Formats: sequence, C-alpha cells, structure tokens
Amino acid sequence: MQVVKTKNQLRTILDAERSKGCSVGLVPTMGALHRGHISLVERCVQENDFSVCSVFVNPTQFNDKDDLIKYPRRPEKDAEVLQKAGCSLLFMPDEQEMYPEKDTRLFYFGPLEEVMEGVYRKGHFNGVAQIVSKLFEAVQPGKAYFGQKDFQQLLIVRKMVEQLNMKVQIVSCPIVREESGLAMSSRNELLTAEQKRKAALISKYLFESLTFVSKKRPAEIKEFVVNGVNAEPMLRLDYFEIVNGTTLQSIQEWTDSACVVGCIAVYCGSVRLIDNIVYKNAD
Ligand code: PAF
Repeated sequence: MQVVKTKNQLRTILDAERSKGCSVGLVPTMGALHRGHISLVERCVQENDFSVCSVFVNPTQFNDKDDLIKYPRRPEKDAEVLQKAGCSLLFMPDEQEMYPEKDTRLFYFGPLEEVMEGVYRKGHFNGVAQIVSKLFEAVQPGKAYFGQKDFQQLLIVRKMVEQLNMKVQIVSCPIVREESGLAMSSRNELLTAEQKRKAALISKYLFESLTFVSKKRPAEIKEFVVNGVNAEPMLRLDYFEIVNGTTLQSIQEWTDSACVVGCIAVYCGSVRLIDNIVYKNAD
C-alpha cells in the first residue's frame, strides 16, 4: 500500500493507474478505523481496480472544538489495518494541504439539512460538503463508499454530487455493529466499559421498536424509544425522529412514505452517538 500526503503525489499515481484503464474507488474517513470502515474498504477493493482510503480529521465539520480535540487519532494503526484490507493507497493530507486557504463555500441542501444533525450541529454538513467535494476533486473516483450509520450525511453527499454535477457513484454500505448491538463508531473508544454497556441500549430500543411496527403508529414507536433512552441516567437524548428515508421529513403514518427510517442521536457522558433503523425499505 502506498501512503501519500499531498494532492500532487496522489494525482501522479492516480493518473498512471487510470492510463492503464484501472477503475478508482474512494473511502473517505476521519481515521481511528474500526470494522465498519474496513467493511467499506473491503467493498471498495472488491469493486475497483485501485482503492484509495483518505484519513483526515476535517476541522470544518466540527461545530464543537472539544469534540475535534478529543477525536481519536492513530495513523500508524490505521495504515496497518488498511494494508491488511487490501487498500491500494492511503491518502493522509494535513490541514494545510486540504485548506491552503479558508474555504468560504456555502452549500445549501434544502430541507435535508434543516432537520436532525443539521439542527443540532450547525454548519456540520457544510464542512462535510467542503471536504468531501475536495476529496472527490482530488481523487476523481468512479465510486465512493459511505456508511449508512450516517444516514443524513449519505443523503447530503448524494445531493451535493447532484448539485455539483459530479460523476461519482455513491455506494451506501450497511451499519456494522458490535456484539452488543452498538453501532460501530470511532467515538465508541472514548466510552468507558460501563458507558459502552449503557450505549448498547440505544440499538436495543431501536431493534425492539422494529417488532412493534405492524401494531403501533409512528408516534407510539417514538414514545417507546424516547422513554426508554430517557429512563437511563447515563444517556441524554438529542433527538429521535421517524422520517421519510428520501426527504428526511418526519412522517405521521407508515403509509406516508415507501421508505421509513428512525434516526437517533444520544449523548453517553460527553460522547455523542448516532444510530438508525430502517422500518420500511423502498428497495
Ligand atoms: O463520515 C465521516 O467520517 C466524515 O464525515 C467524512 C465523510 C470522512 C468527511 O470528513
């Protein structure tokens, strides 16, 4: 696996690969890689001749300075696991390389960004769009891989690709969970053992709620999950919304949309976790 830090080095290598007719796939990450990331890399390796993984903790998408400082970083370990997963190239730029000057671009994704994470993390998706568009420009991948855990991000990135008329195909990959059910996240490693046990309740309530779908209305499911999480003193709910999986707007009845997803954000101690569950799938 090659490891490069600059866009120039990256371009030279990718130009050579493309001239041989190789397809290029990209997995954008912020590092501290876990099995969820590796599942994206493995899929990328399977579907492309040349797989790039980027590791960059993007400052512009953090609305909370503390969160940025605390965000786990372990580049050597990341390189090791990527090599094992068959990744062809690790792109590890620094901030100067990605933001030689302040990025003042403002994106607008309409109603998609006016709910959930968009409300609780002001500016977050603008930062995500800034870095993802820069990475797409630098790598020019045919396909790029994103996890369904960040469900709203996935839809925003698809919208951005449409708005910027980019050619990349966005591939969404299933959530990978720990044995306890807790959705894999780099932030999980900031949790104590006790917090991890409590954090597993988030997915427990989501999965339990799935079993009531045929008997209860969305509002009742919402109440069940919200009450369950609120009953646990170590957890603090930001939101749980049952939404149309295409527009991200709340639904009242199951018949309101062909695709329905329950999206949740919860603090466990000072660590913010998100998860979701598909109640109804259009596919
Ligand atoms: O999902 C993430 O890890 C980040 O938001 C991404 C897509 C790598 C952009 O920094």
